[in-house]
Amino acid sequence: MAKIIFQKSGVSFEWTGDEESILELAEANDLDLDYGCRMGNCTACMQEVTSGEVEYPNGHTGEPDEGHALLCCCQPKGDADVTINA
Ligand code: FES
Repeated sequence: MAKIIFQKSGVSFEWTGDEESILELAEANDLDLDYGCRMGNCTACMQEVTSGEVEYPNGHTGEPDEGHALLCCCQPKGDADVTINA
């Protein structure tokens, strides 16, 4: 099972699949991160991914910068840990 590591915050949480996105996982664990539309459009939730890979089961229309992810709509890809620079 993947672990999501929030590097700057110094916390990590296990991805159980109960949440729809990495943003929701953070919020469920009382970690407040920036967001806007929560639909993959505005890029307000964009954060740098320093290791691991994410995927977008429902797609997105906003384009994250290279090496970044839209946390409101992404999930870890497979079982590898994902490190977020947040
Ligand atoms: S909150 Fe708008 S793209 Fe994630």
